[in-house]
Amino acid sequence: MHKPSANQPEARNDTLSLPPDVAAALPGKFLVFDGPDGSGKSTQLKLFLKAAKDAGLTITEVREPGGTEIGEKIRDALLAHLDREEMSLRCEMLLYMASRAQLCEQVIDPALKRGDLVVADRFVSSTYAYQGAAGGIPFSEIDEAAKIAMQGVMPDSTLIFDVDQETAASRLNPLLDRMEAKGAAFHKRVREGYQSLIAGDPKSRRYLGIDARGNESQVFANIIDALRTRFVD
Ligand code: TMP
Repeated sequence: MHKPSANQPEARNDTLSLPPDVAAALPGKFLVFDGPDGSGKSTQLKLFLKAAKDAGLTITEVREPGGTEIGEKIRDALLAHLDREEMSLRCEMLLYMASRAQLCEQVIDPALKRGDLVVADRFVSSTYAYQGAAGGIPFSEIDEAAKIAMQGVMPDSTLIFDVDQETAASRLNPLLDRMEAKGAAFHKRVREGYQSLIAGDPKSRRYLGIDARGNESQVFANIIDALRTRFVD
């Protein structure tokens, strides 16, 4: 069998584990990993899921938009470039909510009732940042749509990964999807939107800001610290 040596990525990532006190606090919790495009959240999500599985947790993992059959079709509609027209902002917001409605009812709510740890790659915080802060839809309108879509399904905490905009841009695949192609000014407002969510929750219960500038191990350690402060201490 192939045995990784100390300087290979597998060996390094094997050291990223979930401490028992943090793991014990997570069954039945709903965590969201969110942040601007290029923030590194998806890499950390993979590391976290592996560590959580290794710790013996039962996990339901979802992504937004998507995560169900109809949700994945809505995702394609949202991210594909349109040839002849612009998607209206409210159409866009409601499509994200429609995907979320199906996901909450079909997957997230039953999983939480079973006592799984639910981990989502993006959730309603993305709508506040992208369609709200960056797009211009008032948060009160998003609240109303979210109430209908989510039927009371709320994350226990949303981890928001933050890096400077240059780093985020450099991490993107050059083949930009419809959302990524909205330009630097839009993405600056997205980032500010996330920062305003964190600032509006000074006790760090709903939103946990994660400094995502370091290497994989450092950022992972930041996640563990944030979860311990939120759920254990
Ligand atoms: P992903 O590439 O991280 O899967 O996210 C898909 C894109 O959709 C990303 O650019 C962020 C955007 N998005 C919104 O604009 N609003 C939302 O509510 C969600 C969930 C994602």
